[in-house]
Amino acid sequence: MSNSTKRFLRALSGETLTPPPFWLMRQAGRYLPEYRATRTQAGSFLDLCYTPDLAVEVTLQPLRRYGFDAAILFSDILVVPDALGQKVSFKEGEGPVLPPIRSAADLDRLNLSGFHQHLAPVYATMAGLAKSIPSTTALIGFAGAPWTVATYMIEGSGSKDFPNAKGMMFSQPELFARLMALLTQATGDYLIRQIDNGAEVIQIFDTWAGALPEEQFDAWVIAPTRALVERIRAERPGVPVIGFPRGAGVLYKRYVTETKVNGVSIDSSVPLDWAAAELQPHCTVQGNLDPLLLVAGGEALDAGIDRVLTKLGKGPFIFNLGHGIVPPTPPENVARLAERVKNWKG
Ligand code: CP3
Repeated sequence: MSNSTKRFLRALSGETLTPPPFWLMRQAGRYLPEYRATRTQAGSFLDLCYTPDLAVEVTLQPLRRYGFDAAILFSDILVVPDALGQKVSFKEGEGPVLPPIRSAADLDRLNLSGFHQHLAPVYATMAGLAKSIPSTTALIGFAGAPWTVATYMIEGSGSKDFPNAKGMMFSQPELFARLMALLTQATGDYLIRQIDNGAEVIQIFDTWAGALPEEQFDAWVIAPTRALVERIRAERPGVPVIGFPRGAGVLYKRYVTETKVNGVSIDSSVPLDWAAAELQPHCTVQGNLDPLLLVAGGEALDAGIDRVLTKLGKGPFIFNLGHGIVPPTPPENVARLAERVKNWKG
């Protein structure tokens, strides 16, 4: 058991807490008017990620309003390809755009030589947060999992079914393996540096894990994640890791037992009784309210919150959404959620 005064860390070390600690994925973002104002001040989303004072500010904004138990570094999973030399841009309303990696020559242009220097502002943001968050709030660092980051690198944008990424995986397996090895190395280096600048917990976002068949899930979701967990445990013992293999379905169970994560974040499609029976005996569970219930509000929101708390609150649990907050979310609905979770009596 953790002796920490931080309830979030206690839950991750296996304690059952009533009420459970809570935070929300994408808790800093466009649904908040003060976020939109700071982003305008920064110029662009990536400028915001690379300007420590402003990135600290937007990380703190939702904490001031809602008193979450954890703060998550304000950055993006795509700063990793950007730092490897694959220039990322965000087109308003369209999402990320990158010059796609499709050949050995494309991959040869990427390297780790300027990696930490490029990410220095992100490390400075983490160090700034470590000094400014409340003493009872835990600080989360994060990265995209190699597979999810590779989808953006190979497609060159967001995608629904990943024709190029899966095409490379199946038709150019050596090239794909080389990209995944580079990403696993870079992601580990990045996470260790985040820890050295104050991250107390790491979350690994594998947003597109659910797109892979079992065999490829083993090779490209479970194996790289297990390598990252083992590296953090060996080099920075005591820092817990939360995995989020979104859409993994029944493979959530092997993900948990084989990667040995301390916590697992479940998406909204995972049945609560199944998660309580099959996942909670192995690790702390985090999730999984549908983000659209937070848009709907009212009694539907209350009932959804109560259902998650009732089914998962009897074991090690962190309340969260099943995926990130969406921009149309009314801030007052987040306040309603925060009050309801904090007043839960079990
Ligand atoms: O508050 C937090 O959760 C911390 C910050 C955070 C962001 N992105 C900020 C962001 C985190 C943890 C992420 C992770 C991320 N980024 C993921 C994994 C989690 C998930 O949501 O599935 C992925 C796949 C990305 C890649 C990404 N970033 C996309 C596809 C987009 C465009 C879609 C969109 O929502 O606009 C982004 C942009 C992004 N990342 C924004 C924010 C606040 C919106 C940018 C803006 O302000 O215009």
